[in-house]
Amino acid sequence: MNKSVRKAVIAGNWKMNKTRPEAKALLEELAPMVKDIKTVEVVACVPFTNLETALEATKGTNIKIGAQNCHFEKSGAFTGEISADMLKEMGVEYVVLGHSERRQYFGETDETVNKRTKAALAAGLKPIVCVGELLWERECNITEEVIARQIKLDFYDIPAEDFAKCIIAYEPVWAIGTGKTATADQAEEVCAFIRAQLEKKYGKAVADAATIQYGGSMNAKNAAELVAKENVDGGLIGGASLKAPDFTEIVKAAENG
Ligand code: PGA
Repeated sequence: MNKSVRKAVIAGNWKMNKTRPEAKALLEELAPMVKDIKTVEVVACVPFTNLETALEATKGTNIKIGAQNCHFEKSGAFTGEISADMLKEMGVEYVVLGHSERRQYFGETDETVNKRTKAALAAGLKPIVCVGELLWERECNITEEVIARQIKLDFYDIPAEDFAKCIIAYEPVWAIGTGKTATADQAEEVCAFIRAQLEKKYGKAVADAATIQYGGSMNAKNAAELVAKENVDGGLIGGASLKAPDFTEIVKAAENG
């Protein structure tokens, strides 16, 4: 394994937060704070309504913009949905897919995550695909089974050259928004397991080059320990991405990790 062959990515997942003026203010505060960051990709995944504002506010900066979901069809009678092509045309680069909140509250399944991932790739977006076990599943000692199944299904029929454009975010569901971070060792254990699954599916070179983030109550205090781990290549940050100084600390930790 060789951490230096892959890029660390710190992505903020703003979830359903921030109006347009608030989004503009946050990104304008963040941009000068992260302007000298070179080795870490800095991404803000904002609500659909903020995408245009966010793209405008980050023009000429090193902050990339992502959405938090996209539909799997190209167009049609899907009231309330947004297609991958619509995002791409705006200049959006990343899209979060299969977040546990979408799986939990909006009926998202591995099958639809797989279809959305394919649609995002076809449109030229970079998917950040979320996987992770429930607390109950961890207690029953089936974390690895759950993760292996998600990797198999979410990336079903996705060839290596397309997979290379994807990021995986390992987010134990019990750690999201709960303040209960996985220990660095727990995060490392599962991220290493994910990489081993990828090696089986795509071979060693592709697995070694894959960015695998940790997500779940990652913050300015615990980030350094998490991103220092061999198989943890950055993070998907919810709560702490809403405060520019906290988010910057995490980005800096990844630059040093
Ligand atoms: P959190 O969210 O950092 O607030 O726990 C992480 C996520 O859901 O991506």
